[in-house]
Amino acid sequence: MITTKEQMNIVVVGHVDHGKSTVIGRLLADTGSLPQGKLDKVKIQCEKNARVFEYAFLLDALKDEQSQGITIDSARCFFKTKKRDYIIIDAPGHVEFLKNMVSGATRAEAALLLIDAHEGIAENSKRHGYLISMLGIRQLVILVNKMDLIEFDKSRYDTITREYDAFLSKLGMNSVVFIPISARHGDNLAAVSTAMPWYTGPTVLQLIDSFEKQSEDNVKPFRFPVQDIYKFTELKNDKRIIAGTVETGTIKTGDAVVFMPSGKRTFITSIEGFNEKVQLQVSAGRATGFTLKDELFLKHGEIMCRDGEVLPQLSNRFRANIFWMGHAPLVTHKKYKLKLGTGKVQVRLVKVISCIDATELSSISGKKQVDRHDVAECIFETGKPIAFDTIEQIAATARFVIVDNYDIAGGGIILRKEENGTSWLSQHIAIRERTWDKGKVSSAERLTRNGHRGMAIIVCGEGKQHDIAKDLEKTLFYAGLQTYFMSPDIVSTGIDSDLNDPGDIEANRIAHLGEVSRILTDAGLIFITALRDTDESDLLLYRELNKPNEVLVIWVGSSFNVETLSVDHILSDTTSNKTVRTIIDILRTNNVVTDYQI
Ligand code: GTP
Ligand code: MG
Repeated sequence: MITTKEQMNIVVVGHVDHGKSTVIGRLLADTGSLPQGKLDKVKIQCEKNARVFEYAFLLDALKDEQSQGITIDSARCFFKTKKRDYIIIDAPGHVEFLKNMVSGATRAEAALLLIDAHEGIAENSKRHGYLISMLGIRQLVILVNKMDLIEFDKSRYDTITREYDAFLSKLGMNSVVFIPISARHGDNLAAVSTAMPWYTGPTVLQLIDSFEKQSEDNVKPFRFPVQDIYKFTELKNDKRIIAGTVETGTIKTGDAVVFMPSGKRTFITSIEGFNEKVQLQVSAGRATGFTLKDELFLKHGEIMCRDGEVLPQLSNRFRANIFWMGHAPLVTHKKYKLKLGTGKVQVRLVKVISCIDATELSSISGKKQVDRHDVAECIFETGKPIAFDTIEQIAATARFVIVDNYDIAGGGIILRKEENGTSWLSQHIAIRERTWDKGKVSSAERLTRNGHRGMAIIVCGEGKQHDIAKDLEKTLFYAGLQTYFMSPDIVSTGIDSDLNDPGDIEANRIAHLGEVSRILTDAGLIFITALRDTDESDLLLYRELNKPNEVLVIWVGSSFNVETLSVDHILSDTTSNKTVRTIIDILRTNNVVTDYQI
C-alpha cells in the first residue's frame, strides 16, 4: 500500500508588493524544500549581475525548471515540514485567487494574508479578507510583514492588528492569529525572531502546522464534478474513464451513483487512479477516474453523487453572495456565463437584493447593478437548471465564478435555492407572442388546406434517431403532408452563437431549435427534428418555446435511464421502417393524420 503524507493547500494573498513571493521563497528555503544547490545558484547569479538577492527570485528560478515539460502550474510551490506536505499557491490578485478557489485544481484550505507594516492596511488587504471569509476559508493567519522597516515597533504593529481585527470581526471571523514577520530577513517564519522579544506567539511554520485538515470533507455527501471522459481502446474493449476530483465524500466500487442535473443512474465498476495501484475506495481531495457499469452519455458539468445520500439542489434560480471585479458593472439585461464545478451555463442577474462596499462593509442602498469591487447579495437565473449545494452544505459545489466575455469578472457562493419566478424565458415568450405580427391566414385555414395540424416531433435516442427522423419526413411528405426535417446542428450556428465556444453553441442549440419550431409549426408544418443524448431541461425548454403548439417526443432505442425524461413514447425497435410505421400509428391515434391520408 502506498502511504502518502498528509497534504494541505495554502493560498498566499495580499496587496501588491506586500511580500507574498518573498514569504513563499523564504518558506521553501528555510524548510529545505528547494532542489539541491538552488539557493546558492540564484545567489551567485545575482552577484554576477550585480543585483541584490531576493527570495522572490527563487520562484522564478523554479518556474524555469518546471516549464521544462512538467505539469505543474507556475503559481504553485511545494514545501514540507515534519508534519505534512504543503502546496502553496501564490495569488497575486483577486482574479487569481478566485480562479484557484473555484475553477483551479487546488483549493486552499487555509490562507496567509500579508500586510506591509510600513505601508499599512491597503484596500486590497480588506478585499482579500472579505473574499477569504466569503469563500468559507476559516483557517487564516495575518502576517504583518516588513517589520524591519518600522524598527520592529510593537505599537505600530498593535495599531495595524487592532484595525484589521475589527474588520475581520465584522465579517464574523474572530480570534484570527496575527504574526509580526520580516520575510526578507526570516524573522518569525521558521525561526523565532530575536528582534521582537515582545512577541511570544508561534512562528509561521508552527502556526500552519497547527492548522487542521478538514477531515469532515470525507464524511460529507459524495461530490465528483465530471471533468472529462477518456476513451481507451485497449484489448478491443472500449473502456471509458470518467475523470475529475472528488470534492467531498467517499465512494467504493460497486456503489450506486446518480449524475446531476441529468438524473442518470448507474454503478461504479472500478476506480482508476493515475499511476497508482487498484483502489477500492476513494475520498475527498483525490484526482481520480472511474469506470461505470453502463455507458452513459454525460454532458460537461454533471456532478456524480452517491445514490442514497443527500443530493445537490437543482434549480435555475438561486440566491448568492458575489464579489464583482469586472470593469463593466454586473447588470440585469446582459447574458453572462457561470462556472460552477466543471460546468458552464448561461446566467443572468435577476435582482440585486443588497450591496456593500467590501472595504468599509457599509451598505450602499438602492443599487440596481453591481459595480467593480462591490459585494452584493443577488438572485441569479441560469439558462437551464444546474446542480449545486449551498455554502453551508458543501463549499466546493457552492462556489462559482461569473465570466463576462472571456474574463472572470466576479465570483461568489450560493446561499440558497430560489423558487422559479417569471423567468427570462417566459418573459421572452410573452414578448414574442405579443409582438408577433401575423399574416391573414389563420391556423384553421391552414389545417383545412393541409388536412392536418402543425406540430413538432422530436425523435431522440442514442444513435439511430437521425435516420428515423429523416425517413419519417420522407414518408409523410410522399403521403401528401406538409413536413420538414431540421437537424439541431444547423441552427446551432445561429446568428448570436459564439462559434469559438462549444459551450455556447450547446446552450443555444435547443433555444434556436425551439424558436424555429414555433414558427414552422405555426406555418402548419409537421416539424421533425432529432436529438442525440438529450436531457430533461432541453425537452422542457423546447416545449416552452414551441407553445401553444404540440410537441411529440419519441425515444428510440434502449430505455435505460429514460425515466428521467418526459418522453411520450419509447420505441425499443430501432429498425427504421418499423419505427416510422409505429410513429405514423401514433400520429393516427392522436388524430394528427387520418387513415385515408397514409
Ligand atoms: P506582487 O507579486 O508584485 O504582488 O508582490 P509580492 O507581494 O509577491 O511582493 P514581493 O515578495 O515581490 O516583495 C516586494 C518587495 O518587498 C521586494 O523588493 C521584497 O524584497 C520586499 N520585501 C518583502 N518582504 C520584506 C521584508 O520583510 N522587509 C523588507 N524590508 N522588504 C521586504
Ligand atoms: Mg509576487
